[in-house]
Amino acid sequence: MSDQVGFVTMAGARAEGEAPEIGIGMLGYAFMGKAHSNAFKKLPYMMYPPVAVPRLVAIAGRNEAATAEAAKRYGYQKYYTDWRDMVNDPAVQMFDNGGPNDAHAEPTIAAAQAGKHVFCEKPLARTAAEAKTMLDAVNKAGVKHMVAFNYRFVPAIVQAKRLIESGQLGRIFHFRAVYLQEWIIDPNFPKIWRLDKSVAGSGALGDLGAHVIDLARYLVGEPKRVMGMTKTFVEERPLPDGSGMGKVDVDDAFISLLDFENGAVGTVEASRFCQGRKNYNRLEINGENGTLEFNLERMNELNVFWAHEDPKETRGFHNVLVSESYHPYWENWWPQGHMIGWEHTFVHEFHHFFGAILGKHEVAPYGADFVDGYKNAVICDAIVESSQSGRAVDVKYEA
Ligand SMILES: NC(=O)c1ccc[n+]([C@@H]2O[C@H](COP(=O)([O-])OP(=O)(O)OC[C@H]3O[C@@H](n4cnc5c(N)ncnc54)[C@H](O)[C@@H]3O)[C@@H](O)[C@H]2O)c1
Repeated sequence: MSDQVGFVTMAGARAEGEAPEIGIGMLGYAFMGKAHSNAFKKLPYMMYPPVAVPRLVAIAGRNEAATAEAAKRYGYQKYYTDWRDMVNDPAVQMFDNGGPNDAHAEPTIAAAQAGKHVFCEKPLARTAAEAKTMLDAVNKAGVKHMVAFNYRFVPAIVQAKRLIESGQLGRIFHFRAVYLQEWIIDPNFPKIWRLDKSVAGSGALGDLGAHVIDLARYLVGEPKRVMGMTKTFVEERPLPDGSGMGKVDVDDAFISLLDFENGAVGTVEASRFCQGRKNYNRLEINGENGTLEFNLERMNELNVFWAHEDPKETRGFHNVLVSESYHPYWENWWPQGHMIGWEHTFVHEFHHFFGAILGKHEVAPYGADFVDGYKNAVICDAIVESSQSGRAVDVKYEA
């Protein structure tokens, strides 16, 4: 491990006192390619002084014209039409995988084997077995690894974590989370990769559910048992190339029950069939001393209830604007009340990963590493298994 930190420090050495550079190789130039590139550009001047400065070495995609355009647009020094060439580029020190789920394992494992630190979008893989191969590979290579569960880096979520970790909320009874979107209700919406099991692994479960399952593990703890129900509402959709109809073999929605090791119980549900819900990632945690409520569509707010307050005075839900300089990450942004957005979670998460690469702290427990990515996949698989068998399934992680 120390070799890898040394590798980056030396390869990216700058003048004394200056932050080292980390050479970035980015796979994918669409939604996540754009979000990650945006974060790399903002990070050095907003997370100031930066722990490391990302150097945008290369971006990889399959379509040459589009990849060249992306390199120009985002400011990468070069582009590759085969990720293998990027993985073998000595100037790349951190491989960032923003590809679809079927392009997570092979390139990420190859990058780790080439000695690159690896950052991979969620879900880590299509199945727990596939995620385990990635975890084994990064452990063997001794590189740093992180999964993009970026909601851990929302200031209000970090604030919720602090309130729970400090014991202020007391014993936790309930975790209740929904992640709702509306964008595939139209039956004529095409069967894109997210609706194809061979590419995505699962539907709403891996796409949205993985995020809230991660928040459940992060904020409450390990679930020991789950029950699940999955549903596919539209079973056939037009193929994107216009060649006819294709069967949808992933879940459009799922509902699950979680039984936590610490005695809490949880419900987690996700769907892309909820009219009016855009990116409604809402969770509520009920503890013995109070309740916390968060909704991503109001991401700078944390709704808090404290039982110890005088009912004749102010007891009731308080909407706390998490935007003070003493709130998590806010010393880096704007004066109070000048809001930050979804894209800034990626700035925070790369700042965290760079700190881990430079040996300042570990990725876990405040960031999600590949252990978290693997455990998340085990829980997703268990929800699918339970939906098929109709029985509760124990969550069992391999050593
Ligand atoms: N953290 C989040 O909030 C969040 C949000 C959206 C998506 N995601 C995750 O990010 C990943 C990518 O999703 P997206 O929305 O950016 O998808 P997308 O379809 O918008 O982009 C995928 C990119 O990968 C490229 N690509 C596909 N196969 C490739 C290959 N073999 N070699 C090189 N490039 C290839 C495509 O050309 C495209 O640029 C998924 O795993 C998804 O689950 C995470």
